[in-house]
Amino acid sequence: MKRETPHPSRFASHLLPQGEKAWSRRTVLASSLALPLAACDRFASAEPSPPNVPPLKSVSPAPFGTAIKAEQIDNPDWVALARANVSQLTPEWEMKMEYILADGLDQPRFDRSDRIAAFAQAQGMAMHGHTLIWYAQGKEAFAGLSGAAFDRAFDGYIAAVAGRYRGKVRSWDVVNEPILDDGSGMRDCHWSARYGHDGYSLRAFEQARAADPDAILFLNEYNQESVPAKGVQFLKLVERLLKAGCPLQGLGLQSHLWIDIPPGVIAAYLREISQFGLPIHVSELDCTLRTEDRLDLRGQAERMTAQSARVTELAAAFAALPQAQRFAFTTWGLRDADSWYRQGEKDDGKDKPLPFDSFGRPNPMAAALAAGFKTRA
Ligand code: XIL
Repeated sequence: MKRETPHPSRFASHLLPQGEKAWSRRTVLASSLALPLAACDRFASAEPSPPNVPPLKSVSPAPFGTAIKAEQIDNPDWVALARANVSQLTPEWEMKMEYILADGLDQPRFDRSDRIAAFAQAQGMAMHGHTLIWYAQGKEAFAGLSGAAFDRAFDGYIAAVAGRYRGKVRSWDVVNEPILDDGSGMRDCHWSARYGHDGYSLRAFEQARAADPDAILFLNEYNQESVPAKGVQFLKLVERLLKAGCPLQGLGLQSHLWIDIPPGVIAAYLREISQFGLPIHVSELDCTLRTEDRLDLRGQAERMTAQSARVTELAAAFAALPQAQRFAFTTWGLRDADSWYRQGEKDDGKDKPLPFDSFGRPNPMAAALAAGFKTRA
């Protein structure tokens, strides 16, 4: 099963202060600097004791959620941590085409998404459906289809999935990540090839509306806060879709934050996107300590201070939204080891992108969230 790993472009190299030369990691490691770098961590301060943080759902100004993988239902430590801190769940990957269509369009698999839905219901937790149409998935399953057959498959998939979870999900990410990484325009993909860049979103939202008249329908995107041009493109797309009568009802900021987003940029973007007056979902918060493709002499403690500043700014900006626009605040996992940043060959074994450490103890990020939420007027 192919599993996505973070796009390299997610990291902050282009955010270097003006005039500073971006060094590639390769340049640094190949140079004589590598040895002193290795010494830096030796002086990193001892592990601070875990902060004392109240349950996050008790301090959040909206439902506090997290991503869930079906296997976590069998992990008592994860279940206990989730029950204590969250009131909403987003299937991390098993409600997507990646899993549902793994055996082909005519053999959809719902076993794991059904299990997650049943778990959420049993725990009294809401569920946010993720995601119906994504550029990154479905190409193989839809290969060989064209014209009316493609349309039947596209409409049929949304009807089948959104219809199946009608009454079980509160909301859906109907379309995910439609904007190019550099914000220069809309992504080309197998969906846009058939319906056009805006057309596939229009069709997807209309099909989702028909399948579940009660779910709140979201458009979801990453790096809106951290790549200004991408945020602008997202806002322009939202404006076009709304003007075209698209049943778009909510805006998802994935918020896979970088520690080097300049102070104030996150808050400014939330103020800007809130002007549509729509519910806003911080949908996939994590904040990696890694700064790929650039020279970074900071130790772990200094990076975590920067991480806390970014997370507090996001939480405070969310808390400052009008209550009707605070849809939910979701982290992309609870414990560091559960993070997609800690999977596969990119895992450096040290990243701490989530609110809890791998033993379920609060990270500084959890304290940063609570501090940001507390600023609610
Ligand atoms: C990722 C999951 O974390 C992985 O486990 C999965 O294999 C692929 O997708 N933006 C999104 C999420 O909207 O669906 C992605 O989640 C992370 C980036």
